[in-house]
Amino acid sequence: MQNFTYYAPTKIIFGKDAINNLENEIKKFGINILLTYGKGSIKKSGIYDDVLNLLRDYNIYELSNIEPNPKIESVREGVKLCRENNIDVILAVGGGSVIDCSKVIAAGYYYENDPWDLVIDSNLIKKALPIVTILTLAATSSEMNKTAVISNMDLNIKKGTRADAMIPKVSILDPTYTYSVPAIQTASGTADIMSHILENYFQKDKNTDVPDRISEGLLKTLIKYTPIALKEPNNYNARSNIMWASSLAHNGLTAVGKSGSWTCHPIEHELSAYYDITHGVGLAIITVPWMKYVLNDDTVDKFAMYAKNVFNIEDKDKYKQATKGIEATADFFKSIGLPSKLSEVGIDDSKLRLMADMAYKHGSMKNAYVPLTNDDIYNILLACK
Ligand code: NZQ
Ligand code: ZN
Repeated sequence: MQNFTYYAPTKIIFGKDAINNLENEIKKFGINILLTYGKGSIKKSGIYDDVLNLLRDYNIYELSNIEPNPKIESVREGVKLCRENNIDVILAVGGGSVIDCSKVIAAGYYYENDPWDLVIDSNLIKKALPIVTILTLAATSSEMNKTAVISNMDLNIKKGTRADAMIPKVSILDPTYTYSVPAIQTASGTADIMSHILENYFQKDKNTDVPDRISEGLLKTLIKYTPIALKEPNNYNARSNIMWASSLAHNGLTAVGKSGSWTCHPIEHELSAYYDITHGVGLAIITVPWMKYVLNDDTVDKFAMYAKNVFNIEDKDKYKQATKGIEATADFFKSIGLPSKLSEVGIDDSKLRLMADMAYKHGSMKNAYVPLTNDDIYNILLACK
């Protein structure tokens, strides 16, 4: 196990009616609040009215219409609103897109130039406004981590930036808020959570039993509960287990003691940068071809362990066991209604080479579990056709 620092300082308030703690938590930060949200799901579900009601003694300013795969234009607008209204705290209500956008707004407030600079170079982030979140979709762990992913469609760049200053101070997680998440978003949320776990699970470091066993437990939880949440969207046990698994998947916990870069995420970011597809859908398409591509004599033991500990697959031949584990992953994604081919999401061959080159340029594939060249990435994308 490698040396590590684990820092997850967000106060989590979890459960039904957790929103009743909102006022008590937010008052510590001030009275001028920027309420950020997406295209309207919080109005339909009633969370918007509840927030306004609970915070009726505060000055609320709003940034709405934050889009999935949040764009730098929304960040710029948010920074402007914060400056014009002397905002004390940002209240982000939504999924990862709303929270990510709010993080860079919070940092942009203290940065005098264009906030896109903060996406390109996270070292420029020195300070940020406090952020409180109310999560409505289980997927990214943004509610509990230091990452924000922002897209610049003029440049075809979707990129993550990271800073401790952007970690939310408080996050309110009420699983009932995810009852209204549509089936495809529920499934792609699970694919994203699983990918966060798998990116950390498949690393070269040996003797990482603690993060590996935690990872397998989280994966089994998702495999158990996602079909239930799809069948019964209002099943509290399913939604609560998925929600907490989501937060733990990418708040640093499954990465402790490990080194090395991620693989599927940088590839997916190129798909979204050029085609604006749903992040988890892109990951579901890439993950299985990537697994098949990197299965070799060095990785077979880990894949066999994955097959056994996550899917209870036994086989004396470790290659067969590993392959069955990969097939079980594909079957699971299919069973929850996720696409498995780029053609299903409107991506043809025309930009595969370009996206492979860009994934190589923007990612750190030399340090991945199995180091990849741009030709390797291209081959993986060809296998996703
Ligand atoms: O905009 P509204 O109307 O709110 O609708 C949203 C949106 O259309 C809807 N939704 C959210 N909660 C809902 C709901 N619909 C009904 N009921 C609810 N309770 O779902 C749609 C997708 O929302 P979005 O926030 O985009 O989804 P997600 O949480 O998956 O976030 C995706 C973004 O996060 C980035 C992704 O790349 C993508 O840009 N990521 C962020 C990470 C991080 N901060 O650590 C890591 C991830 O790997 C990922 O890259
Ligand atoms: Zn992700």
